[in-house]
Amino acid sequence: MVSRMPKHVGIIMDGNGRWGKANALTRSQGHYAGVQAMEKVIDASIAFDIEVLTLYAFSSENWSRSKEEVNYLMRLPIRFFKQKLPEFIRRNVKILISGNIDGLPAATKKVLMRAIEETKKNTGLIVNFAFNYGGRAEIIRAVQQVIREMREQKLELNEELIGRYLYTSGLPDPDLIIRTGGEQRLSNFLLWQSAMTELYFSDVYFPDFGEEHLREALYEYQQRKAIYEFADVYPSAR
Ligand code: IPE
Ligand code: IPE
Ligand code: MG
Repeated sequence: MVSRMPKHVGIIMDGNGRWGKANALTRSQGHYAGVQAMEKVIDASIAFDIEVLTLYAFSSENWSRSKEEVNYLMRLPIRFFKQKLPEFIRRNVKILISGNIDGLPAATKKVLMRAIEETKKNTGLIVNFAFNYGGRAEIIRAVQQVIREMREQKLELNEELIGRYLYTSGLPDPDLIIRTGGEQRLSNFLLWQSAMTELYFSDVYFPDFGEEHLREALYEYQQRKAIYEFADVYPSAR
């Protein structure tokens, strides 16, 4: 029987700003609370034996927010990794970044590069932060590299070739994408990779999202897989 546990889970961590407002706090305080929820989700992912967790933390569209909010979001990784990197190293967590790192402020880029470098030999949970990430830009970038490659050698243009030049090269496609905060869209997240992905939407604002909510999403995923498998064995039940 195939394993029904998703190997790769993506989370669109949405609703931080509204959580702040609902709790008479600022949007930035909402983002800070979101980081704390993220830590819990990472812990739970280790406990659930998930292999890859991709967390959508900053989209290429998010630059259009107020200068104050963008500045805050650019500084959050600095604070986060200062506190958490030694623990990630110790707990065998491997950090990856999907997104345009070169387009980030120098201090943010530095801290992300360091997190990647210092965890590159780790073999446990992969936490892949989608930061300054946009799915369409990622595909354009991949196609540009494919064109360059094809000028030099004869290659067949296929899905594998495109996949090799995406930020997620080497990772399995996400089995499950969860979006918190009540909106039901992808907002430019993993467009190519989500072709076959199960989508799960939760009304909970991300700062309130915890192990129990993740467990519910995984349970729903497993239920869906069980139904598909049943239909494979008993096609008449489709
Ligand atoms: C998601 O929360 C986090 C980021 C986009 C960085 P939002 O900031 O989008 O929160 P809402 O959707 O405005 O509540
Ligand atoms: C998606 O949320 C991006 C992240 C969670 C980082 P947004 O709040 O930015 O997306 P839209 O604006 O609702 O599409
Ligand atoms: Mg939002």
